Amino acid sequence: MKVRVKALIDKMAAPAEDPIPLLTPYKMGKFNLSHRVVLAPLTRQRSYGNVPQPHAVLYYSQRASDGGLLIAEATGVSDTAQGYPQTPGIWTKHQVQAWKPIVDAVHAKGAIFFCQIWHVGRVSDSVYQPNGQAPISSTDKPLTPQIRSNGIDVAQFTPPRRLRTDEIPHIVNDFRLAARNAIEAGFDGVEIHGAHGYLLEQFMKDKVNDRTDEYGGSLENRCRFALEVVEAVVDEIGADRVGIRLSPFAEYAECGDTNPKQLGHYMVNALNKYGILYCHMVEPRMKTVGEKTQCPHSLLPMRKAFNGTFIAAGGYDREDGINTVAENRADLVAYGRWFLANPDLPKRFSLNAPLNKYNRETFYISDPVLGYTDYPFLDEETNDVAIEGRN
Ligand SMILES: Cc1cc2nc3c(=O)[nH]c(=O)nc-3n(C[C@H](O)[C@H](O)[C@H](O)COP(=O)(O)O)c2cc1C
Repeated sequence: MKVRVKALIDKMAAPAEDPIPLLTPYKMGKFNLSHRVVLAPLTRQRSYGNVPQPHAVLYYSQRASDGGLLIAEATGVSDTAQGYPQTPGIWTKHQVQAWKPIVDAVHAKGAIFFCQIWHVGRVSDSVYQPNGQAPISSTDKPLTPQIRSNGIDVAQFTPPRRLRTDEIPHIVNDFRLAARNAIEAGFDGVEIHGAHGYLLEQFMKDKVNDRTDEYGGSLENRCRFALEVVEAVVDEIGADRVGIRLSPFAEYAECGDTNPKQLGHYMVNALNKYGILYCHMVEPRMKTVGEKTQCPHSLLPMRKAFNGTFIAAGGYDREDGINTVAENRADLVAYGRWFLANPDLPKRFSLNAPLNKYNRETFYISDPVLGYTDYPFLDEETNDVAIEGRN
């Protein structure tokens, strides 16, 4: 394997061949991307006390490349937004200050950095809530205990409290302030987390939303809250800095919809009215966290209907990403687990180099190094252990 890695490094010095479609430049609004391999948002639970830590400087800068796009892990918009241990926030001055050196390090590498802003809603427990109160949601229906994405831990949830109609503008305002704070911290923009069964989806999807006010019932009513968040964030920082992540087909955290196609369509058409920068959609094949399944649905109708940049994510490998860009099924492809384990993923894709295996057991541990900043770069590999076959 040593010989193989050496040959790959030699190849890097050889005259450039035509880049694969994933490695071609792309202009996303005012941002000039040099390639299309995006770091997907990845919760790593190493932000002690909800404050981003100095070790994140190294972690993100390892994954930054000149003209690459990184999306930061889900980041809480308020003290009611948390549902997991040691996840970062962006609602206090202290948190904003703590993000600054991380953002600076990513920019020093020439990368573009968006912050994913998040409210978990009912995917929480009173231990994560101020004064031990109940988590908030569109509903008071409780969640049953769930296996976490690492496939090992079981999470427990406190029954939520249904938000009153008059409280909703305050939550919208939390997203607005979080977006303002993200810009203050130096981020290039924000990605509104409208996916994976969290608060925005708890409103959007009809298997959860059982409200009878103007935020429940019809599709238009169920999407109202998410679109009010989009409007507030656009108003605060400008549409050219705003993206959103959606997963209409997923059923994470018991959050499904009886007509996900219609929901996805409605949302992209509504988003077009705000002219936001990008829509980041999770593939229908990602039915459950970390599990790729066969699925008859496709993101293509949404890709075609959306006017801005379209990012696809979920279960992508190199080949699939190349084909998706070549066939114009997305502008950019976000990689989660492979980027987590391969800080130099774009370079590895360009060379068709072997990939480091990811280790699920260290996804969410609080160690500042192990499974976080210790995945080797291609030119550091000295043994076969960390290397999996071509992906
Ligand atoms: C460790 C881990 C943490 C994740 N955290 C987030 C997150 O904070 N926000 C989010 O939208 N998705 C999150 N996801 C989902 C990923 O962004 C991505 O959509 C998913 O891993 C599927 O893509 P992949 O097959 O390339 O890994 C997470 C996934 C993993 C494995």
